[in-house]
Amino acid sequence: MSNELTLPKPSGAAAGSGDPLLTIKGVQKHFPVMDGFLFKRQVGAVHAVDGVDLEVFPSESVGLVGESGCGKSTLGRLVTRLLEPTGGEIRYNGQDITHAGRKELAPIRSEIQMIFQDPYSSLNPRHTVGSIIGAPMEINGINPKGGIQRRVQELLETVGLNPEHYNRFPHEFSGGQRQRIGVARALSLSPKLIVADEPVSALDVSIQAQVVNLLQDLQRELGIAFLFIAHDLSVVRHFSQRVAVMYLGKIVEIADRRSLYESPRHPYTHALLSAVPEADPDDDRERIRLVGDVPSPLNPPSGCRFRTRCWKAQEKCATEEPPLIQLSGNSAGHLTACHFPEDGNAAVVPDQRAEV
Ligand SMILES: Nc1ncnc2c1ncn2[C@@H]1O[C@H](COP(=O)(O)OP(=O)(O)O)[C@@H](O)[C@H]1O
Ligand code: SF4
Ligand SMILES: [Mg+2]
Repeated sequence: MSNELTLPKPSGAAAGSGDPLLTIKGVQKHFPVMDGFLFKRQVGAVHAVDGVDLEVFPSESVGLVGESGCGKSTLGRLVTRLLEPTGGEIRYNGQDITHAGRKELAPIRSEIQMIFQDPYSSLNPRHTVGSIIGAPMEINGINPKGGIQRRVQELLETVGLNPEHYNRFPHEFSGGQRQRIGVARALSLSPKLIVADEPVSALDVSIQAQVVNLLQDLQRELGIAFLFIAHDLSVVRHFSQRVAVMYLGKIVEIADRRSLYESPRHPYTHALLSAVPEADPDDDRERIRLVGDVPSPLNPPSGCRFRTRCWKAQEKCATEEPPLIQLSGNSAGHLTACHFPEDGNAAVVPDQRAEV
């Protein structure tokens, strides 16, 4: 990888120490649902993100995991302020950007970048990769030393592509290569935080590891913080120092990687973990099969939102929302939202759904 990039190096402080780069508190995004032909009126709201607290520290990678429809992309778009929250607070480097307008966001926009899931639709097919990667610099009036073309070529090299290919079009590249182009574009403004929204989900399994490795190199060598969104726990396992598990608009468990994978306390985390294939052929873990789909965020279940699919649900789960807290026996920073948590040994779990 090229050493010529002018991206910030980690300050020497370990990830997770010092002040957070990103702080979100009680963040909500409720999409209004309108009805009526002539006179539109709001008849409900999609509770896509419903009170999320999260911090990301400089140079740290935080994984955000949950099934499809849990609100992960919406949260990613709130963080990058492509969407405006309907509640809560977002701070970047201490600055409140919750409702910041275009002008206030301008300097921050370059520091927070997003990589999207679909490398096919996120690149304009009529533009050369050179103009795609160079566009953020042109839009922001940045003229790097040696010119934009040289910088584009450096970036191509950084992401493992041939710098001679800057005049080619997206269709001339494979899926994995296109995602590398998306990564180069995200790097062009020397970001401090990248929100990667399922960046490898659309790629061949054989290619996924290569792209994850590239992102991991960037995180380590350039000191970029990541919010890495994935729908299962296998992808973030080797990439993220901390992992947050999201269910129906809320974080239900968050912990450092080791604590989460070795002693999951939330039944949903346990279920997601049991879907992760193990390399060990003698693996005799009890498998949990999640029944049904994520319920509609238009009308989330009362109390604990996971209760309609939870095999441990009891009456309390329907009436009281479990707070996200540190349970006894858990390491610092390992928070779980469950009234009847797992024992942390990921042991015997019946394969059935409880009626509440
Ligand atoms: N612009 C929107 N308007 C209305 N509902 C939306 C909008 N964007 C997302 N949603 C809904 O919000 C919920 C969460 O979506 P999303 O954030 O894409 O979840 P995920 O990325 O975890 O699959 C889904 O039910 C989705 O249909
Ligand atoms: S609070 Fe109840 S329903 Fe929710 S995860 Fe815990 S046991 Fe299951
Ligand atoms: Mg998504």
